[in-house]
Amino acid sequence: MKETDLLTVSEVAGRSGFAASALRYYETEGLISSERTAGNQRRYHRQVLRRLAFIKAARNIGLGLEEVRSELDLLPLGRTPTKADWQRISRDWRGRLDEQIQALERLRDGLDSCIGCGCLSLRRCAISNPGDVMATRGVGGAGFLPPLLRRPI
Ligand code: FES
Repeated sequence: MKETDLLTVSEVAGRSGFAASALRYYETEGLISSERTAGNQRRYHRQVLRRLAFIKAARNIGLGLEEVRSELDLLPLGRTPTKADWQRISRDWRGRLDEQIQALERLRDGLDSCIGCGCLSLRRCAISNPGDVMATRGVGGAGFLPPLLRRPI
């Protein structure tokens, strides 16, 4: 492979939309890889752009880093997702988005009962219990939320 087939950090950053620091981070986390020049500078194969596009899409869907890693690990030999891979994965993600949308709709509907209320009751207010404290006891409004929409306090 000619050295001109390899991309610099700034080229990859410019084309992918990720900051150079994000590229280093993803490389440290093993999601992408690079080669080093004789001067110890990073060079990326062009296919890294498709892998980064996949990472960006996954993050936009709301996948955490470990979930992104799991998806990428499913690909043989760590290769870049193909069109067929993407069709399978995007089908799965559609289900995930549907679940998120339904959870947000339930949350919005729960908010309707808060308007003019103001009780902020941990027992019955779905909005004031986002950490799902009461759900662990089998009661409480945070049951409105699936795990992926629950945020730690
Ligand atoms: S503030 Fe009373 S139910 Fe949410």
